[in-house]
Amino acid sequence: MLVTGNDILVPARAGHYGVGSFNTNNMEITQAIIHTAERLRSPVMVQMSEGAIKYGGQDLANIVIDLARRATVPVALHLDHGSSYESALKAIKMGFTSVMIDASHHGFEDNVKETKRVVEAAHAMGISVESELGRLGGIEEHIVVDEKDAFLTDPEEAVQFIEQTGTDYLAIAIGTSHGAFKGKGRPYIDHARIEKIASLTSIPLVAHGSSGVPQEIVERFRAAGGQIGDAAGIADEDLQRATQFGIAKVNVDTDLRLASTVGIREALMANPKEFDPRKIFGPARDVMSQVIEHKMRVLGSVGKA
Ligand code: G3H
Ligand code: 13P
Ligand code: NA
Ligand code: ZN
Repeated sequence: MLVTGNDILVPARAGHYGVGSFNTNNMEITQAIIHTAERLRSPVMVQMSEGAIKYGGQDLANIVIDLARRATVPVALHLDHGSSYESALKAIKMGFTSVMIDASHHGFEDNVKETKRVVEAAHAMGISVESELGRLGGIEEHIVVDEKDAFLTDPEEAVQFIEQTGTDYLAIAIGTSHGAFKGKGRPYIDHARIEKIASLTSIPLVAHGSSGVPQEIVERFRAAGGQIGDAAGIADEDLQRATQFGIAKVNVDTDLRLASTVGIREALMANPKEFDPRKIFGPARDVMSQVIEHKMRVLGSVGKA
């Protein structure tokens, strides 16, 4: 069933588990996400960025909405990193049931103002809203506390921000970053900060940049001819702990990008004579499904729907 973000995330925060919010850009990614969620009885969020809307438009949104409506588990369609009020409103008109307004690069007051506008419009239409406070970006374990504080989310500010905006869920900066290169070794994640913010708030918290970049997938990518440097993601244990202590929405894009490319590369390498797209994109869908299943088990959302 197609539901709002709040329908999925409020129970997740209360139940101390996380729900994956996976980026989609085509039918195969969407099927991997929603069919895996059904198989595992897990709630799930499917998100489209503004780039995904530019690429797939209403055609892609309709694929997600149709699969979501027919699904036997709760599914929300979410706008990832909406850059403006207009962008959020456009997504709502397209049928999205959850939108993010990302005004985190503005100062606190302007972030509040822009977020509040979106919250008022979205709530009037029964749609829930994610906003962001703090600046995303990988940080090294050894940097001094003052520097961390400069861009990671301040717990007291988070309380003020939630009160002043009425946001339904809040993305916090906790040291994670987007992409396949989150830092050397085991990338940093600020557990103490998550737990502090969670202790002061009750709405669901959101972690961006939550791909695990599984080394097995990275190795297969290389073995199939792909080139990639020192790729590293958030360790499963770190993500598990974060979801037990307040993170309810867990954003994942990079892992599915890597998994789909591994499936395609392996299929093409193994069968140089193949040109049936189903024999190429089908394996990509299978590898993505395996990665999604692993993530859902780590987050603890399996069996929650
Ligand atoms: O946070 C960004 C997501 O990974 C989406 O990326 O804007 O290239 O679609 P994109
Ligand atoms: P990853 O790059 O770690 O998959 O993060 C995706 C994300 O945060 C989308 O909003
Ligand atoms: Na988002
Ligand atoms: Zn993000």
